Amino acid sequence: MRMILNELGLAVAALTMMTAAPAAAQQAPIPAIVADKGRHALIVDGEPFLVIGAQAHNSSAWPAVLPKVWPAMDYLGVNTVELPVYWEQIEPAPNRFDFSVVDTLLAQAREHKVRLVLLWFGTWKNGSAHYRPAWMKARPDLYPNMVDRQGAPVDSPSPHASAALEADVRAFSRLMRHLKNVDAQRTVIMVQVQNEPGTWGSVRDFSPAAERAFRAAVPSDILRATGRPAASGRNWRATFGPDADEFFHAWSVARYIERVAAAGKAIYPLPLYVNVALKDPFQKGSTPPYEFGGPTHNVIPIWKAAAPSIDLLAPDIYQRDSKAYRAVLAQYARPDNALFVPETIGSADYVRFFYAALAHGAIGFAPFGIDYSQYAADRQGEPRMREVDLEQLALSYRAIGTMAREVAKWVRDGKVRAAIEDETKAAVTLDLGRWSAEVNFGVAPRGNVTGNDRPIGRVLVASLSPDEFIVTGNYANVRFKPAGRGAGRAWEFVSVEEGWYVDGTFRPSRIWNGDETDWGLNFSSAPEVLRVRLAVR
Ligand code: DGJ
Repeated sequence: MRMILNELGLAVAALTMMTAAPAAAQQAPIPAIVADKGRHALIVDGEPFLVIGAQAHNSSAWPAVLPKVWPAMDYLGVNTVELPVYWEQIEPAPNRFDFSVVDTLLAQAREHKVRLVLLWFGTWKNGSAHYRPAWMKARPDLYPNMVDRQGAPVDSPSPHASAALEADVRAFSRLMRHLKNVDAQRTVIMVQVQNEPGTWGSVRDFSPAAERAFRAAVPSDILRATGRPAASGRNWRATFGPDADEFFHAWSVARYIERVAAAGKAIYPLPLYVNVALKDPFQKGSTPPYEFGGPTHNVIPIWKAAAPSIDLLAPDIYQRDSKAYRAVLAQYARPDNALFVPETIGSADYVRFFYAALAHGAIGFAPFGIDYSQYAADRQGEPRMREVDLEQLALSYRAIGTMAREVAKWVRDGKVRAAIEDETKAAVTLDLGRWSAEVNFGVAPRGNVTGNDRPIGRVLVASLSPDEFIVTGNYANVRFKPAGRGAGRAWEFVSVEEGWYVDGTFRPSRIWNGDETDWGLNFSSAPEVLRVRLAVR
């Protein structure tokens, strides 16, 4: 497989060079999220763009570490890399800014022919404020953390601290101004505002400022968003009862981030998003506790109302169970929210969710912690992550990467279906209109498969027309048959062509027939893309 991958890697790299970034630094249109009939696309260079991405470790966006980031990204064949921008680095003294590291990120991304999603590690990073510059850490009186119900300190910034908000507005605005000035070619296509904002360990802030706001009337846009009677004049407790603390904190954090995002967007209107430390998708109440205040699924309407400058709320999906994973995809794929997975598990068993996300309408997907910077405890001097760990992701990224623009359009148009293997290894039947496709998982002669040792089987089908499909996948067998009014009728393949998209056109390299089609279409460990034409007889 390595050989096939490597050979393909070269071909794909050449393709990516032509499509990932405009050659010269001319003014390209500003990227945007567009919605149409409840579906979404991220528009880059005027066309739908699919983020085939990966995120490096938290402390890897330093010039000294980047040489350990790029080889992993290059091997994967990503078209977009997610990297943090550290507040403590860009503003070492109040109102003195240093964008040299940001400039390095842009320059190196361009060399590697990839786009960037920058992550603003500002007021919140995983619920804490550890990326505040040292001069802020020295002034807890001005830039306070929260206190809990008992008045004890919580390691999470208060969203009611006005000096901190002003400082974040200033720093983020400067960052966006800088990007506007130095990135005419739109290497940066989106910006994440904060990182997993919210609070671990307290449902809300109980500081005097927070208490005052909690006792005030709930704003009318929040009443509307949560389906409560308008202009009730009632406070949070009277309006939301047992949910009041949590809803108030979500509103407080969202409102703060809205001020930061709106200021940045007024300068340079890139798509902005907030990532989420998820609540269990099936959990009803607030116990066991999770990170309160962030855009967990139960408070999405509050976030949408309080933070209109945020284009989308993006789930960081670390769910291991496939039902839970899919439930999260469904919760964040909403007519008012473009689905984007900015963090997820990168190991082999989770690659299949890339296809599940696309079938849910995702504009992109990016596993977390992809670089060779950390060392393994059990292999002295060797990186914890190696090519072999990335092989499965590379396989799917390379297959989809050759047709990323096409896939982005098919996703936007609702033409993509996916079959992924779950813990039961059970077959999946895809409804394709006039046809259905039964997908069995595993690799065996004559397609007589009974599941893979690990749940890694995955198939993606895009409908080009009622009888014509693009099919790609791994470790699975796909059998078509007529459905609906044609069910039970004889049928045959008109053709099964293997090939690649080049400049928007499918270029076949061979035709599958005989053993390659008589027992269904067998996908093993190669990044194959098929154009399948079917006919009833
Ligand atoms: C989620 C965070 O958003 C990331 O920055 C990182 O801390 C990961 N968790 C660690 O698994």
